[in-house]
Amino acid sequence: MKVHKIAVIPGDGVGPEVIREGVRVLEKAAELDGSFRFEFTWFPWGCEYYLKNGRMMDEDGISQLEKFDAIYLGAVGYPGVPDHISLWDLLLVIRKSFDQYVNLRPIVLLKGAPCPLKDVKREDIDMIFVRENSEGEYAGSGSWLYRGKPNEVVIQDGVFSRAGCERIMRYAFELAREKKKSLTSISKGNALNYSMVFWDQIFKEVSAEYPDVETHSYLVDAASMLMVKEPWRFEIVVTSNLFGDILTDLGAAIAGGMGLAAGANLNPERKYPSMFEPIHGSAPDIAGQGKANPLAAIWSASQMMDFFGHEDWGKKILSSIEAVLEEGKSLTPDLGGTATTEETTGKVIEMLCSNIKCMGKLE
Ligand code: NAI
Ligand code: MG
Repeated sequence: MKVHKIAVIPGDGVGPEVIREGVRVLEKAAELDGSFRFEFTWFPWGCEYYLKNGRMMDEDGISQLEKFDAIYLGAVGYPGVPDHISLWDLLLVIRKSFDQYVNLRPIVLLKGAPCPLKDVKREDIDMIFVRENSEGEYAGSGSWLYRGKPNEVVIQDGVFSRAGCERIMRYAFELAREKKKSLTSISKGNALNYSMVFWDQIFKEVSAEYPDVETHSYLVDAASMLMVKEPWRFEIVVTSNLFGDILTDLGAAIAGGMGLAAGANLNPERKYPSMFEPIHGSAPDIAGQGKANPLAAIWSASQMMDFFGHEDWGKKILSSIEAVLEEGKSLTPDLGGTATTEETTGKVIEMLCSNIKCMGKLE
């Protein structure tokens, strides 16, 4: 039997509450399938760990994680620990050490999901964002001069390498080709006269290798407006680290909210483990109350199944999420319901079972 070894980092706030539920769904899928199983190893890293030990993860944390097939992460960050520490010393270290240069974020309006836009049909919002995840504006390069003095200066560099731009664009083109969808590049070549002119140039060069893929290029400000007014224009989208971060939150807002937004951090060469996570944070305002929506975490578990080559299960999990939304009776408060985190998951599992006509046999 195939064994998938997963490092689980539940993290802070609602992180553990939603990750527990994603693990329940994964275990159920494995049980129903019978040809593979999961081996979960839990790591207590995060802000609580930081307050006790002065670090977000073990000193040799990266080498501990390296032997796993994937990482399943909740959320990190909590009041009391500065956000730049919790982000840089855990999440970003993992993304960078494991060269997870693709951040794949589906923005799909599932049936039954709330949408703040008027007159939008389900099929109008059906995008996959391919966000550059290893360099760009989040390269962490810069300097802080004359700290605290009147002539204080801060420089934050954007780092765009030819290799880095080419590989993310090729990944996006391959995805567009495979899915027979158009590819849109989002940049800002008019104002960012080095980095984004370079980005646009490389997009043009790489697109010459894919004459069969329809392409579009937008400036990020126009793209933000169009994502709201004409979201159907976007199918596969490739963009830089910062723009991708911001636009996918906008995407989450038009496709059901943060409780439904999932993301995968991929090392496509599979040299290192990839990481799957809901994109929301630790939501301290609702932590510990059983109110967190587990669907984003469960959606990211379905992305994990896709990545492991169990696309059938990836699809089944996603359609179970959709069935729960459509039925509308077991939703958490962010989606207007009164169900607890656990109850929503229970319904997903019920849908998953009925999906494959095995109700009664299980649970
Ligand atoms: P957040 O995503 O935690 O919360 C924003 C809003 O969305 C809140 O009203 C929250 O209640 C709601 N929300 C988030 N997830 C939800 C869920 N599963 N179900 C229902 N409602 C949900 O973002 P915020 O408040 O800006 O950040 C809180 C902490 O999380 C900070 O320390 C921040 O640094 C960290 N953070 C961590 C991320 C990660 O680990 N990937 C991503 C974003 C923020
Ligand atoms: Mg973000």
